[in-house]
Amino acid sequence: MFVPLEILQNLVMGIPPIARLAAGYHCTGLNADRVMARQVFELYCRFQPIAGKDILEIGPGHTLEVLEEALGSGAKSCTAVDVAEYVTGDHAARKHVDYRLYDGKRLPFPSAQFDCIWSHTAFEHLRYPTVTVAECFRLLRPGGGMVAHVDLGDHSFYRRQPPLPLKLFDCLRYPEWLWTLMKWNRSTYVNRLRKSDWKRLFAEAGFVLIAEASSVSHEIERALPALPYLHNYSHDDAVTAVLTVWLAKPAPPDVSTLR
Ligand SMILES: C[S@@+](CC[C@H](N)C(=O)[O-])C[C@H]1O[C@@H](n2cnc3c(N)ncnc32)[C@H](O)[C@@H]1O
Repeated sequence: MFVPLEILQNLVMGIPPIARLAAGYHCTGLNADRVMARQVFELYCRFQPIAGKDILEIGPGHTLEVLEEALGSGAKSCTAVDVAEYVTGDHAARKHVDYRLYDGKRLPFPSAQFDCIWSHTAFEHLRYPTVTVAECFRLLRPGGGMVAHVDLGDHSFYRRQPPLPLKLFDCLRYPEWLWTLMKWNRSTYVNRLRKSDWKRLFAEAGFVLIAEASSVSHEIERALPALPYLHNYSHDDAVTAVLTVWLAKPAPPDVSTLR
């Protein structure tokens, strides 16, 4: 990455009308593709039953089709919340999804309003991950669950052809202040938390980890001795590329059974 150009692009994206204009050209992952949305929905279904549930999706980007699938499978209500307006209110209303925008800090809902919280490749973009994870815990009903699929790679190179697998964790080369200066206002910003950071954050918020799955970059694993910027991480953190977690908000014990 050419650092001065990255900083310049970041400054330009800090101008709201330009950021809004640029959002129209962003690819947000699933990009409303029905087949991929169905696959993500099936991933969520592996963890939790859907029927009768109030569901919140964090960071849907262009894709309300995952929640549309949930409504088709009997979800009671579906809500989506994002920091950037990738779909219009009218589009969301046609899909019967309550679509909200917010500033990335306090989520705009009362406590204990949802049974399930879902997120697909959005947590790595959170500017305030500690705040958002705590907010998710607040919004869940006791006994509710959250599924988060987190892409731990540097998104700067994802659209490059041919692919650059050894650049997967390039973001970890830079000190925090410089990374912020290069990326904070941009859709390619990633918070760079590693697998162990996420697990600690979830536990600190009160979540119980029910299941996890992760995948490793074998290219990075092979090249690891030659990548000194990864040597301060545990082996697991240095090579894990994607993390999926199923977390629960514990329900208080039923005291009536003690009598
Ligand atoms: C890579 S896109 C993923 C979109 C979609 N989930 C998918 O898989 O296609 C990341 C999304 O997270 C959103 N996002 C970033 N920070 C967020 C936050 N604090 N709260 C909610 N959404 C956020 C972005 O605006 C964007 O829509």
